[in-house]
Amino acid sequence: MKGVFKLTSTTKVLEFKNPSLQGAITVPGDKSISHRAVMFGAIAKGQTTVSGFLLGEDCLSTIDCFRKLGVNIKVDGTNVTVTSDGIDEWQEPKEVLYTGNSGTTTRLMLGILSGTSLHTIMTGDASIGKRPMRRVVDPLRQMGAKIAGRDNGQFTPLAIQGTKLQAIDYSMPVASAQVKSAVLLAGLRAEGTTIVREKEISRDHTERMLRQFGAEITVDDGVISFKGGQQLLGTHVNVPGDISSAAFFLVAGSIVPNSEIVMTNVGVNPTRAGIIEVLEQMGANMSVKFEDEQSAEPTATVTIQTSELNGTTIEGDIIPRLIDEIPIIALLATQANGTTVIRDAEELKVKETDRITAVVTELKKLGADIEATEDGMIINGPTKLNGARLKSYGDHRIGMMAAVASLICETPIELDDAECIAVSYPTFFEHLNDLLVK
Ligand code: S3P
Repeated sequence: MKGVFKLTSTTKVLEFKNPSLQGAITVPGDKSISHRAVMFGAIAKGQTTVSGFLLGEDCLSTIDCFRKLGVNIKVDGTNVTVTSDGIDEWQEPKEVLYTGNSGTTTRLMLGILSGTSLHTIMTGDASIGKRPMRRVVDPLRQMGAKIAGRDNGQFTPLAIQGTKLQAIDYSMPVASAQVKSAVLLAGLRAEGTTIVREKEISRDHTERMLRQFGAEITVDDGVISFKGGQQLLGTHVNVPGDISSAAFFLVAGSIVPNSEIVMTNVGVNPTRAGIIEVLEQMGANMSVKFEDEQSAEPTATVTIQTSELNGTTIEGDIIPRLIDEIPIIALLATQANGTTVIRDAEELKVKETDRITAVVTELKKLGADIEATEDGMIINGPTKLNGARLKSYGDHRIGMMAAVASLICETPIELDDAECIAVSYPTFFEHLNDLLVK
């Protein structure tokens, strides 16, 4: 075996000698869709079956919260069955709902719980305790929600006293699917028609899934309208592979010499597939074969080969379509010819960690030519990278960026707190090991 992964309690040593990556993998289920499948199944009446569920820590936090609300959830490998009599039958939880590291769980549950008749308290880990919640709490309060929390509801722990809600017409101040989804899910219980207006289109899994569960919703040129009081009905949800997880192997396949990686069942919903557009712009050797364009969430088989790449500019309305992929795109840019500019991405500062600071600080330690800007970063390439001791900041995507970087470093990377990768991709190192040519 050419790769060596040594795991101590806090630090993983990543060392590879002239690696190449060859073979096929199926990346685990999409995190955003897995969360929503359980949430919608819990809201709906009847049984919901989910296949391809992501067994990452974030999605397990969502399951845990709904179990505390009395919803019956069975997990059998990546198949999950949710049985519910509908939202009115949930129980008031005796315990605090713990959302772990998951922003999606925390923010979407705020929207869902606001319109119940229950009193609930939600809290998460140290990272969640620093992430802004007013972006969700403010529109929910406009709908009548009763939410209390630190700094007037900006930070967890948050206490929600469920109440009757009124629909709103809400123009989104930031491109955020979590905010949009929280408002729409509150709208499900509100009196009247909720309207959400987006200037830049964020991921639309909530809109697609509302339809799958039998609701009527209209989407027209960034305006979403949705009548309150609709009853969702249990159904089957097939979760595609997560393009945000595939992204790490798309980049690894392009920058590691003599590589060819095939990934099947990758979710290529156009509101998520910005990284495919960027790889094409940069000149990657890549093919995308659509598998299923008709289902609720389209999928494709994506093949990537080692590529000669050119720098590019990434800005404007593509940003929400690849926001989670920017850390790994930054690493990609260190290997491209010329300058890559990333702008309009200030949202990176409020992710699991400040990803502008984290990416720039850690890639600099490896010798990259990269500078932070107010709303992104500027990267000059190509540069040869050398190993160093890196921090993940407890952020799964920074951890995986470091692991992929180690494949092109002459000397080892020692990665602190690599365990956080299990938040979204618990089998990441197994897949990497399967692909390494031995
Ligand atoms: C998500 C939306 C995005 C994304 C996050 C998942 C979702 O966050 O970064 O990983 O499932 O709705 P924002 O809504 O903060 O942009």
